[in-house]
Amino acid sequence: RVLDWSPVTVEKQGFRHFMLKEIHEQPSVVRTCLEVYFNPDWQQKGTKPVNLNLSSELIDNLENIQIVACGTSWHASLVGKYLLEQIAEIPTFVQYASEYRYSPSPIMANTMTIGVTQSGETADTLAALGMERQRRSGLDKPYRPRIVGISNRPESTLGGMVDQLINTYAGIEIGVAATKTFVAQVMAFYVLALDLAWQRKTISPERIDQILAGLLQLPTQIEKILQTQEAKIEELAHNFPETRDFVFLGRGINFPIALEGALKLKEISYIHAEGYPAGEMKHGPIALLDAHVPVVAIAMGGSVYEKVISNAQEAKARDARLIGIVPQSYDDEVFHDILNVPEVEELLSPILAVIPLQLLSYYIASLRGLDVDQPRNLAKSVTVE
Ligand code: G6P
Repeated sequence: RVLDWSPVTVEKQGFRHFMLKEIHEQPSVVRTCLEVYFNPDWQQKGTKPVNLNLSSELIDNLENIQIVACGTSWHASLVGKYLLEQIAEIPTFVQYASEYRYSPSPIMANTMTIGVTQSGETADTLAALGMERQRRSGLDKPYRPRIVGISNRPESTLGGMVDQLINTYAGIEIGVAATKTFVAQVMAFYVLALDLAWQRKTISPERIDQILAGLLQLPTQIEKILQTQEAKIEELAHNFPETRDFVFLGRGINFPIALEGALKLKEISYIHAEGYPAGEMKHGPIALLDAHVPVVAIAMGGSVYEKVISNAQEAKARDARLIGIVPQSYDDEVFHDILNVPEVEELLSPILAVIPLQLLSYYIASLRGLDVDQPRNLAKSVTVE
């Protein structure tokens, strides 16, 4: 037997595709973020909980945050909005960069603008940030530009444009469909939201410790999902080689995860998929449902669990095959198929909920024999408008 020692095979480290390798790197991506940014023993040591050091020009008198991004980065930003509003109590607005650059919101005072782009090269995101800086330059102090970047590439064009950059340290991502960089971006939002919450005293030190303790568990919890659910997901994928449409439902902090699950499936398997806030399904998309349209419901426990289950029941009544992303102890008989994740508080659940969705899209695309790492019509970063 002749071993394939080509550089690409060696780089894939035994995985069939870069995407699968990158999905498996996620525990270590989260670990790196925890090590770089958090001090779990901050109270004993008399230090800060988060090592971020945003300058006072960026955070003094901060009243609003607006975020511009595209694609998967836009989904991470929607999770970020939830965290910034719930933990740090700062009104946060998330915009598609391609829309914002031509129809920006009115100029608000004391507003931070964050560009989220893993590559740091997406043309629309850079243009939106450039426009924001330009239209604010020369204005009175409350209106001055305060521009922050969240990126995996500090050396990128974005890095040179922002007042401060939050590095996501995920390592180079080769698969076109973003996986580990998404998780790293969501982690960056925990970093930012907790730092601002600590500075503004919107949550108690005990609550900060509770969230930090939860974050520290995430790497082993992701490992557990990979160990216990991957074979099951590969098997489940065999049911969908001919499926033409999928619906993903989530609510609250997991609504963006429904969007991300749908986007992953579209990108690499070319199956039409919709992500929807579960409560909106009755206002239109429910008309699409029948036995040929599987529905994936993200039912992670917490405040919206019962609501998502009842939305799932409505889908089941239309003969949809129901797949539940559900915490271990919550197995609900409403689902035809259950993908289990460890039980965590709602605030921390998106990072776990996204893992089975990444694997599901990977295995469906791979069974369809598609070029998972280089899907048709897509580029890793879109550097033209
Ligand atoms: C392209 C990629 C997407 C990515 C988007 C934003 O469309 O195919 O996977 O989410 O760009 O990329 P960025 O580098 O700005 O995060």
